[in-house]
Amino acid sequence: DRSIKIAPSILSADFANFGAECEAIEAQGCDWVHVDVMDGHFVPNLTFGPATCKAIRPHIKTVMDVHLMIAPVDPYIEAFAEAGADVITAHVEAGPHIHRTLQAIRGAGAKAGVALNPGTPVETVGYLLDMVDLVCVMTVNPGFGGQKFIHSQVEKVRSLRAMIGDRPIHIEIDGGVTPETAPLVAAAGADVLVAGSAVFKGGSVADPAPYGENIRAI
Ligand code: DX5
Ligand code: ZN
Repeated sequence: DRSIKIAPSILSADFANFGAECEAIEAQGCDWVHVDVMDGHFVPNLTFGPATCKAIRPHIKTVMDVHLMIAPVDPYIEAFAEAGADVITAHVEAGPHIHRTLQAIRGAGAKAGVALNPGTPVETVGYLLDMVDLVCVMTVNPGFGGQKFIHSQVEKVRSLRAMIGDRPIHIEIDGGVTPETAPLVAAAGADVLVAGSAVFKGGSVADPAPYGENIRAI
């Protein structure tokens, strides 16, 4: 279904070739580029920060979708906005003031996203729906690529779709998206699918054709 956007996560790309990897997945037909920022504190893994986002920005023509798995968030919002993030997503679990964080993201000129861990009730975003452009439903516990899709979250996506009504808010799915799980979340109302391992498997910058085949298979 081509109204569904595919956002490859560069967490599964070659870290020594981010620029070329971004260009390769866009040439192979992806819709957005998903950028996973981890701090070794909010999640048990470390990736990179705003300097890397700024460096890869010129290699992305579509949408740079930055997923912050960090706590605290607020001190870094300006830096990620200046690095050129189109969407900045913060976790509802990352601190006591998600409302303030989302205001600050929009204030910095980016689109605002809010992410929910698998154990977090969907009701936590109820009072945020008039200030977000995207809600990200994590379908794995954040921190690593290549984990198994958590099926209980499909019901959460369905509830979220009903809560959103006709507001122009994307529902993004992150974690364990494959050709098998993608139809389940699409049917439940998701419209942006992040996929790391399922997109990058079998390909490389030198041989990017498998990226395209993988994107089309989702
Ligand atoms: C997980 C990240 C995801 C991850 C998805 O913490 O937020 O974006 O890269 O990887 P796959 O698609 O392999 O589950
Ligand atoms: Zn992510």
